[in-house]
Amino acid sequence: MLYRLARSGFFKLDAEKAHELAIQNFKRFNGTPLDLFYRQTLPNRPVECMGLTFKNPVGLAAGLDKNGECIEAFGAMGFGFVEVGTVTPRPQPGNDKPRLFRIIPAEGIINRMGFNNNGVDALVENVKQAKYDGVIGINIGKNKDTPIENGVDDYLICMDKVYDHAGYIAVNISSPNTPGLRTLQYGEALDELLAALKQKQAELAKQYDKYVPLALKIAPDLSDEELSQICQSLLKNNIDGVIATNTTLDRSMVDGMKFGTETGGLSGRPLTARSTEVIKCLYKELGDEIPIIGVGGIDDYVSAKEKLLAGAKLVQVYSGFIYKGPGLVRDIVKNL
Ligand SMILES: Cc1cc2nc3c(=O)[nH]c(=O)nc-3n(C[C@H](O)[C@H](O)[C@H](O)COP(=O)(O)O)c2cc1C
Repeated sequence: MLYRLARSGFFKLDAEKAHELAIQNFKRFNGTPLDLFYRQTLPNRPVECMGLTFKNPVGLAAGLDKNGECIEAFGAMGFGFVEVGTVTPRPQPGNDKPRLFRIIPAEGIINRMGFNNNGVDALVENVKQAKYDGVIGINIGKNKDTPIENGVDDYLICMDKVYDHAGYIAVNISSPNTPGLRTLQYGEALDELLAALKQKQAELAKQYDKYVPLALKIAPDLSDEELSQICQSLLKNNIDGVIATNTTLDRSMVDGMKFGTETGGLSGRPLTARSTEVIKCLYKELGDEIPIIGVGGIDDYVSAKEKLLAGAKLVQVYSGFIYKGPGLVRDIVKNL
């Protein structure tokens, strides 16, 4: 009820302005009595995954708290885990505005943010200060002006800096808004990236005397054959998890709608079915060997359960949270 009221105000604003205002308020309310606007106590539904214990299987997806500025607020809402980022080695402004659009009739969002973030050092400082006892995933990417052939270096720089502060590290090679990024999902480029990350993980595990799992985040716009090749690469390189999926380039579900032809990645309800198909396809090949984190168009208990039944061990939400608010987390967790 409270969220519906707040939403009607937020939805009158430009989408990115509303986002900024929400983040500012969460930052201000973080850890103060004013967090009563969104604080909720949820039943414990612990899940073991990637060697970690999650309070419940519902996480915040990457991109909402890119700089890790309000981790405690999301913790107070009852998220079982919070994924911050995508962060890049150096700060960057992202693409020109406008770059964020609500597709209201479809309960979708199109974004072409382009990894706007304050850089990995600023994110690490925020994570260090967060008083949150759940799992924090840190999602890493490459700077726009790093040539794609040197992209691996950016991931290694970020890994070095975040390793000691992350519950798990998510490797984002699936944003459609960084030119060339998705080419890392194919063939030798993927194998080389995963091998380099795995070697770095082994070095850092020794250095810090702890093992931080690595999860690869993939796109929904891949054929069965391409998904199968990704699975082989994940298995060969002993990657700890896979996050499916990022946003889609497909526009068939928002044909003719306002903003439906904007460039960028589409998320929310129009993505629900496709991301579940991808999870099913991955689970057929990976079984229980590599856990799947399911994300894409989850906006109620049923759509979350569908992802879990398709083979996901954990789920994440972004667009559904924008449309439904913290009550979405409560509805899913309570019914599990
Ligand atoms: C505005 C916006 C920004 C996003 N930024 C990122 C990002 O920085 N890194 C990332 O891995 N995914 C990013 N995503 C993708 C989400 O994490 C998620 O994979 C996708 O939106 C599908 O989930 P949903 O349908 O619940 O939104 C972003 C999504 C949106 C809507």
